[in-house]
Amino acid sequence: MKLAFVGGTGPEGLGLAMRMAHAGHEVAIGSRSTERGEEGAAKVREVVPAAVATGGANADVVGDAEVVFLTFPYSGQHDTLAALGAKLDGKIVCNVVAPLEFEKGIGAVALNVPGASAAQEAAAQLPNARVVSAFQNMSAEKLMEIDHEIDCDVLVCGRDAEAKQVVIGLANQVAGVRGVDAGGLSQSRYVEMLTSLLINLNRKYKTQTSIRVVGL
Ligand SMILES: NC(=O)c1ccc[n+]([C@@H]2O[C@H](COP(=O)([O-])OP(=O)(O)OC[C@H]3O[C@@H](n4cnc5c(N)ncnc54)[C@H](OP(=O)(O)O)[C@@H]3O)[C@@H](O)[C@H]2O)c1
Repeated sequence: MKLAFVGGTGPEGLGLAMRMAHAGHEVAIGSRSTERGEEGAAKVREVVPAAVATGGANADVVGDAEVVFLTFPYSGQHDTLAALGAKLDGKIVCNVVAPLEFEKGIGAVALNVPGASAAQEAAAQLPNARVVSAFQNMSAEKLMEIDHEIDCDVLVCGRDAEAKQVVIGLANQVAGVRGVDAGGLSQSRYVEMLTSLLINLNRKYKTQTSIRVVGL
């Protein structure tokens, strides 16, 4: 498949792109700067020599992508989606955004966002896109270690059943990972909020945590 990563120059976007390229998908790294997007693609090719990876401006890389991953901070979500607008119509848009901030003495704190979750806000802003939410609990550090399995579940939320299955299929292509249908977009709030908890656990135990649902 052709996959694009809006805000793909950060660790989460690059890590996901590396894993997807490793699985044989064509990836395009997007950025607010064409140059940084191209540099991001070069990083993917460095780690995955067989990768078909290109880079450029966010608005350019989404063009022919079948799935568009949103891998930028929550603070940039509204304006970035407003700028992309109709370019995302009809596409599967996988929101990886976990709204959080860091507070001195506490660590990561999940934000209560007006639309209940970043994914629901994206869906409201992009009525013609097929918005799915996934990968918020997956550590970028682990994603970038492409020769290692990742022992975790990826909780996938969305109202478009077919789009959700596509994203579950992509998650299953990362070694060790199981994609789990976690219900509608209203469930994304809980998945997004878990990220803050995991970040704080990482700090406390000096490791990279993730989640596994037992009993399924
Ligand atoms: N890092 C993790 O381990 C991890 C794990 C799970 C989920 N997540 C979530 O995944 C998303 C990306 O994480 P990250 O750590 O890769 O983030 P990041 O490094 O802070 O940002 C990723 C990229 O987003 C772009 N960006 C930054 N501010 C922006 C803005 N205001 N508007 C538009 N684009 C902006 C930047 O690219 P350009 O300057 O090139 O445009 C940046 O390189 C976040 O929402 C995070 O909550 C992260």
